[in-house]
Amino acid sequence: MTHILAIDQGTTSSRAILFDGDMRPVASAQREFTQHFPRTGWIEHDPEEIWQGVLATCREVMDKTGVNAAQIAGIGITNQRETTVLWDRETGRPLHSAIVWQDRRTAGICHALHAGGHESRVNEVTGLLLDPYFSATKIRWILDQIDGGMALARQGKIAFGTIDSWLIWKLTGGAVHATDATNAARTMLFDIHKGKWSEEMCALFGIPDKMLADVCDCAGDFGTTEAALFGAPIPIRGVAGDQQAATIGQACFAPGMMKATYGTGCFALLNTGERAVRSQNRLLTTIAYQIDGKRIFALEGAIFNAGTVVQWLRDGLGLITTAAQTQALAEAADRTQDLILVPAFTGLGAPYWAPECRGAIFGLTRNSGPAEFARAALESVGFQTRDLLEAMQADMGVATAGEVLRVDGGMTVSDWTMQFLADVIGAPVDRPEVAESTALGAAWLAGMRAGVYPDMDGFARGWRLDRRFEPEMQTAHREERYAAWKTAVAAVLSTQT
Ligand code: G3P
Repeated sequence: MTHILAIDQGTTSSRAILFDGDMRPVASAQREFTQHFPRTGWIEHDPEEIWQGVLATCREVMDKTGVNAAQIAGIGITNQRETTVLWDRETGRPLHSAIVWQDRRTAGICHALHAGGHESRVNEVTGLLLDPYFSATKIRWILDQIDGGMALARQGKIAFGTIDSWLIWKLTGGAVHATDATNAARTMLFDIHKGKWSEEMCALFGIPDKMLADVCDCAGDFGTTEAALFGAPIPIRGVAGDQQAATIGQACFAPGMMKATYGTGCFALLNTGERAVRSQNRLLTTIAYQIDGKRIFALEGAIFNAGTVVQWLRDGLGLITTAAQTQALAEAADRTQDLILVPAFTGLGAPYWAPECRGAIFGLTRNSGPAEFARAALESVGFQTRDLLEAMQADMGVATAGEVLRVDGGMTVSDWTMQFLADVIGAPVDRPEVAESTALGAAWLAGMRAGVYPDMDGFARGWRLDRRFEPEMQTAHREERYAAWKTAVAAVLSTQT
């Protein structure tokens, strides 16, 4: 019983990664699933398709390696956060498609609550801002679509869950309806200070508390899988939202430690210890993890477009055929041109929260070509990260906000991009040896709980650096470039009606 199975259920694909007793990933399997766009700004997933994909990937890694259920000490789940599923407790069937975190359909509900003066209280209790991003308004929207939905929910016949809860329910054959504190913290119904569901928030959003899951520590007892699924029951022992799992996988356990994960978007989390810092700069206050009943908080900044800038170069502009070509192009760019791309393809996230503005490119000349576009695209990711770090520093005071940024996710393979990041933030950027921070975080939670992996200190000591990128850019040049970015963002923001 030395292996751990991590399930990483993301926004566009589901993965299963099998880790051995030394926390090394030994096999993985991946399935993409359908993205449904029923209307502009709406994004849905099919919960059954997600479940089937997860099940298939778990079975595939076990088949590939010959490791059977009896050899697996525990399952760790990490997941796209906020995405909302409602299901019938009796039949176990979803009552609607899952509404994805990126979905904007409940903007009207948020505007109305904002106009009613509720944002400050919502922020005080939940650490979040009134935005369709979070689960509460999505739950309410689905309830309103179901005939007699509210009455059924009050009778306890309807269950709500984020994706972790949905998977736990399916894996345990409907025996367990649970979530962990990090996922609960993204629903806008959870009092992050008291560590329990907030009656006040449930009343504000009109959500019966009988729909809600039991909230557990990230390393805990989430039941065991139905024996028929994998041949023998496997205990589920770890759960965390994907950005929190990456924070754990990066061993950011001390206050002031900070990580940024570069996927489709970028999410930066700064550990603030036992103190929940209320942001004055439109960052989110969230639970980084809860272990042995102790909650550790983080300030979070979310950028909605990071990896998407490279996809745009490839699919939108046709300038590259593979993401890997971007770096070579950027290296070849004419240094005398300073193009600035503001990739507000879907508006801007933190710290601006401007959903209606759109992207722009500044500084074009007759000589601007693919290389300059590629460089501007990669640099935009660095500039946006600096925006988040500036906001964190303003909230925390310069001395306490992370001095080193640990990075992970697909874009971090590009040395050029990581060097620019270090240059523009003016701080070292550390890339770890194990690139799978998110899955590793979930695996460690489960393995630590199962007693096969080291405790927190042991795990932190085992974190290994692949490469540190030191800032090399002259300060004056750095500040000049960043000022140009801020001017470009201001221009983009001025177009928002
Ligand atoms: O808050 C949304 C985030 O959890 C999504 O992460 O990696 O699935 O895009 P990802």
